[in-house]
Amino acid sequence: MLDIGIDKIGFYAPHLYLDMTKLAASRNVDPDKFTIGIGQEKMAVTPVTQDSVTLAANAAWEILDDADKETIDFVIFGTETGVDSSKSAAVYVHELLGLNPYARAIEVKQACYGATAGIQMAKGHIAMNPDSKVLVLGSDIARYGLNTPGEATQGAGAVALLISAEPNIMALEDQSVYFTADIMDFWRPVYSDKAFADGKLSNEQYIAFFSEIWSQYKAKSGLGLKDFEAITFHLPYTKMGKKALKPVLGETTEEVQERLKTNYQTSTEYNRSVGNIYTGSLYLSLLSLIEQANAFPAGSRIGMYSYGSGAVGEFFTGLLQNGYKEHLHIKQHDDLFASRKEVTVPEYETIFEETLPTDGSEVAFDVQDDPATICLAGVADHKRRYVNKKK
Ligand code: CAA
Repeated sequence: MLDIGIDKIGFYAPHLYLDMTKLAASRNVDPDKFTIGIGQEKMAVTPVTQDSVTLAANAAWEILDDADKETIDFVIFGTETGVDSSKSAAVYVHELLGLNPYARAIEVKQACYGATAGIQMAKGHIAMNPDSKVLVLGSDIARYGLNTPGEATQGAGAVALLISAEPNIMALEDQSVYFTADIMDFWRPVYSDKAFADGKLSNEQYIAFFSEIWSQYKAKSGLGLKDFEAITFHLPYTKMGKKALKPVLGETTEEVQERLKTNYQTSTEYNRSVGNIYTGSLYLSLLSLIEQANAFPAGSRIGMYSYGSGAVGEFFTGLLQNGYKEHLHIKQHDDLFASRKEVTVPEYETIFEETLPTDGSEVAFDVQDDPATICLAGVADHKRRYVNKKK
């Protein structure tokens, strides 16, 4: 049978960040609440020269070679912070990357679940067209507002996944359990550029969905915790996955519990320094695990729990491939984190309020201040103007 899965993974976050202990001080909150209670150390801050399109394009730019650009015939862009109600963000990325024109390009929305739907769609497409490659993007800017309970769980970034047959990193298995229920735990009306959340309900539903889906998965697959090297989670903040994992750990031995807890911790490292990136968050956590842990044996099974408020959840799995470490971009990601610039709380607040005009007026930005390859250069005639400095 044809193995289908993740062949390459790219990641990009804006070059600015805020230290959570400084945000805590300015909001008169004990810093331990943010760093331990929520589990976040740094939060990516998005300059006006980046949006969900540019973040995704930058994440993909670092991983694709010319052969990939020729072979990709489907671009699936998962986002809940898209830039247009009609045109898909995937079409902009397709152009910015210079992809083969004989391609489909669409946007998928269901809160933080969009990229997972994209991966499953890509798997079906490759099963029918084994020579094709699909670019799946998860890109978002999480905004709740200044001085809101959600403020400490903001962030921004994108993950780009190249899905193909005979993948170099992870082969996806066919067993998966998905679940939908209409819940108002988190939403963003079309008139608002900030999300609304019922924080307590969202935490409860995230855990309840995991519990339901995990029970169903065990019954369907016959597998249990011992069969997993690690379980990765959608991470709105890094304490969240821990809260869902803890109640089920008693199902297994101390040894397996320790393995899952250690690997969970490693899977939170990148997210802890970036914040919530919504639909890319699960895949940032997967990336953190496989880049920051020592190499796992080929065939190790990794679980992935995707949760998109509203709500749709899914648990699915993949097997790490022989030599997968050689296909990761660890140095690039270390450099990305090391080169970020800290902003003060007043600077973050100013950047947060600097949004694009909504009255049709024109604006132009100096993209030289933004080290990213692909930037938003302005808006004119109601159209966003993008630039790829290397194309
Ligand atoms: N030292 C250590 N820990 C402390 C502390 C201190 N001084 N003070 C508080 N804490 C702990 C609390 O005990 C709590 O831990 P537990 O949850 O384990 O009990 C934690 O810090 C958070 O404290 P609160 O519950 O009081 O925090 P809050 O009410 O101010 O807000 C939040 C927390 C609900 C997550 C809020 O930030 C929020 O609404 N965020 C947006 C919604 C969200 O992220 N929901 C997650 C599930 S939904 C989802 O996953 C989809 C998505 O991406 C949005």
